[in-house]
Amino acid sequence: MKKHHVDILISEQDVRSRIAELGQEITNFYQHKNIHTPLVVVGLLRGSFMFMADLVREIHLPVEIDFMTTSSYGNAMNSNHDVRISKDLDGDIKGKHVLIVEDIIDTGRTLKHVVELLKHRQAASVKVVTLLDKPERREEAIEADYVGVQVPNKFVVGYGLDFKQFYRNLPCIGVLKPEFYED
Ligand code: PRP
Repeated sequence: MKKHHVDILISEQDVRSRIAELGQEITNFYQHKNIHTPLVVVGLLRGSFMFMADLVREIHLPVEIDFMTTSSYGNAMNSNHDVRISKDLDGDIKGKHVLIVEDIIDTGRTLKHVVELLKHRQAASVKVVTLLDKPERREEAIEADYVGVQVPNKFVVGYGLDFKQFYRNLPCIGVLKPEFYED
């Protein structure tokens, strides 16, 4: 664990309790909506793997689970403005209610691309939950329906989020100290 590389922004305990609240809100919403097909919860890999696993345990409804792998950054620190889908959903979402699970919304390009795609595939509804939101970086006019925590424009890692593929396994959200990403 490279915990000394980061300043803790959101503790493991705070992440856990915020996810429990999100799960409750989501459960209440779909219960009241009285949907007649299972909710399909779609995790955008790789960043959302940990959030997805914890969140679905807090959603007390019948759900299907599916994943899509998207990438917009490569290993660079800035978005290259391309959204690539390297693994598509396994299931058909036509006529189903979909909840997209993101770890972070930054420019909003990934989310815009995926929401448009799933609407085009005729999902009955498409909602979005993100653990983190970095509104200062937004380039597309898109917001999540459920936001865990708004974060400042800093280099956040942990709990699924990476720098050059590392730090994803930290159980908290931290700000990476500049000496660990600057040459
Ligand atoms: C990150 C993150 C979001 C996306 C947000 O994924 O997980 O999916 O970028 O950025 P955006 O709002 O500017 O599109 P990334 O492409 O780095 O892949 P990863 O999930 O494998 O970390």
